[in-house]
Amino acid sequence: MENRSLVTIAEHSKEKILYLLEMAKEFEKCPNRHLLDQKVVATLFFEPSTRTRLSFETAANRLGARVIGFTDPKVTSSSKGETLKDTIMMVSNYADIIVMRHYLEGAARYASEVAPVPIVNAGDGANQHPSQTMLDLYSIYKTQGTLENLNIYLVGDLKYGRTVHSLLMAMRHFNPTFHFVAPRELAMPEEYKLYCKNHHIRYEEHTDFNEEVIADADILYMTRVQRERFTDLMEYERVKDIYILHAKMLEHTRPNLRILHPLPRVNEIAYDVDGNEKAYYFQQARNGLYARQAILCDVLGITLDEVKRDTEK
Ligand code: CP
Repeated sequence: MENRSLVTIAEHSKEKILYLLEMAKEFEKCPNRHLLDQKVVATLFFEPSTRTRLSFETAANRLGARVIGFTDPKVTSSSKGETLKDTIMMVSNYADIIVMRHYLEGAARYASEVAPVPIVNAGDGANQHPSQTMLDLYSIYKTQGTLENLNIYLVGDLKYGRTVHSLLMAMRHFNPTFHFVAPRELAMPEEYKLYCKNHHIRYEEHTDFNEEVIADADILYMTRVQRERFTDLMEYERVKDIYILHAKMLEHTRPNLRILHPLPRVNEIAYDVDGNEKAYYFQQARNGLYARQAILCDVLGITLDEVKRDTEK
């Protein structure tokens, strides 16, 4: 049987991405459906989450599915030494699809190779976060009217930030110019810069973050410095407050600029930005519901035509 898992966004063609965005648009028109009646969705979160888990669970509930799962591996038999493989095999007995977040890079790939049901990667360590990328692309498309030829500034923790790694790969289809704004300790890893070179993606690197640097930005994608990924907490203390976006910095930016953030934020976006018309991060998180409804349907083999026919009912 075809493996319909979503492990990395790099596996999706431009056509597939646009197809999923069109499906998300259908769900935004009407989120409450019966397309997944009789289905069970398992959400296995080996790492904390607010948005990803709750939006996947809301997506499943609004499509008529039932949801099982856990938010804390300490209350499961993995705390007694059960392996990831055995956990996945067990949950596959009960659910039609597994949405999994894991702290190990490659865990989703491994799970997709052993599981008899599709796996959706809800974040694996510092590696990938493909469902976040789908909602990011949907947000960019909604706010800019296009995904093509945009100036995208990625700011903050580009070393450990799985959301920026996934976004960079997905944007290869759309001729972006990236600006990587990070301190040297958190710079974009060489493998992703090589990915850019191999896919003819333009990028510039900056260590300063100020009004002049962001003057021509269409998208300002802020990220949190991820304390949980540091082995040296002294290093975290040195870089944690390095970039803070204030409303004043937006005065001379482009009118179409929108500020995205995968959230949670710590203090990299000051609260005075929240009321600015260019702040889009809370709507972005809402878009996660529609993007994840599209992902669940697609992974379970429900087509865009079926979704459209259902919209017309
Ligand atoms: N953006 C994101 O992954 O948020 P959570 O960690 O709250 O799921």
